[in-house]
Amino acid sequence: MWSSEVQKDEAREAAAKLAAEAHGDFTESMSYGDYLDLDTILSAQKPRSDQHDELLFIIIHQSSELWMKLVLHELENAVALLRNDRLEPAFKSMARVSRIQAQLIQSWDVLATMTPADYSNFRDALGQSSGFQSAQYRQIEFLLGNKQEHMLKPHAHIPELDAKLREALRRPSLYDEAIRLLVRRGFPIDPSVLNRDVSLPHQAHPSVLAAWIEVYRHSADHWDLYQLAEELVDIEDAFQQWRFRHMTTVQRVIGFKRGTGGTAGVGYLRKALDIVFFPELWDVRTSL
Ligand code: HEM
Repeated sequence: MWSSEVQKDEAREAAAKLAAEAHGDFTESMSYGDYLDLDTILSAQKPRSDQHDELLFIIIHQSSELWMKLVLHELENAVALLRNDRLEPAFKSMARVSRIQAQLIQSWDVLATMTPADYSNFRDALGQSSGFQSAQYRQIEFLLGNKQEHMLKPHAHIPELDAKLREALRRPSLYDEAIRLLVRRGFPIDPSVLNRDVSLPHQAHPSVLAAWIEVYRHSADHWDLYQLAEELVDIEDAFQQWRFRHMTTVQRVIGFKRGTGGTAGVGYLRKALDIVFFPELWDVRTSL
């Protein structure tokens, strides 16, 4: 026997010995699968066709929804922390959101292995269902400031969900909280910005731009606000990358067909690229 094979045998034996020390009887105690409720999660993939690629399509959506759940958890935490002037822990949550977004952007590469023919084999089975009806996606958009009441329409038939989304629509966004923080730090923000109806999207205002210009020009004097601005830009930048990859993936899979959700498809997704959450943080770049 070659010496490398002897070494492999020894390694296998040693690993088996160490594994034998692990707990093996779970009749009385909680196991990994119990803790994670894997029975529920792993039985939630219910393809509507017998087509091979439908499982990929389901899993990519379900895992995206799980990551969105964590994004919401972190963004809600960041909003509450900012409101209480606790910037450092808020940055931790915001940085985590950016890393999750990187994961979500990466997942388009997996989905792009599905060809147009693979998808059209089961597309009819989706009926009118579409990511357009993702309640968590709308909630994330609301938290980031893209408040659009008409997006509640697909959720009207589920009263609890409708109420949850309406509540998110009426709450100040992450950016509203950042602007309120600028005020607490002495920046003269126009009252019309502070007293605005927060269930509508924020409109860029010169007083907010002037505050960010001061923060960026004198970053050493306003280091935490400067960091906050850059963390916000990271999140919006990644959000745009996700939107862009969604649009290109959709184009390569269905071309310019209409979406199952009823919109024009790629034309609709291309228009969504014009949506801006934190306009002054992009304008500030031009002003510096
Ligand atoms: C082959 C795969 C996919 C196709 C062909 C596709 C197609 C589309 C289309 C055409 C729309 C516009 C609404 C409509 O008319 O249906 C849309 C919206 C949307 N999709 Fe997808 N999609 C795909 C994968 C995904 C995945 C993996 C996610 C992850 C959750 C996702 C999430 C969304 C969301 C959140 C929207 C709403 C976007 C907005 O309103 O700005 N999609 N999709």
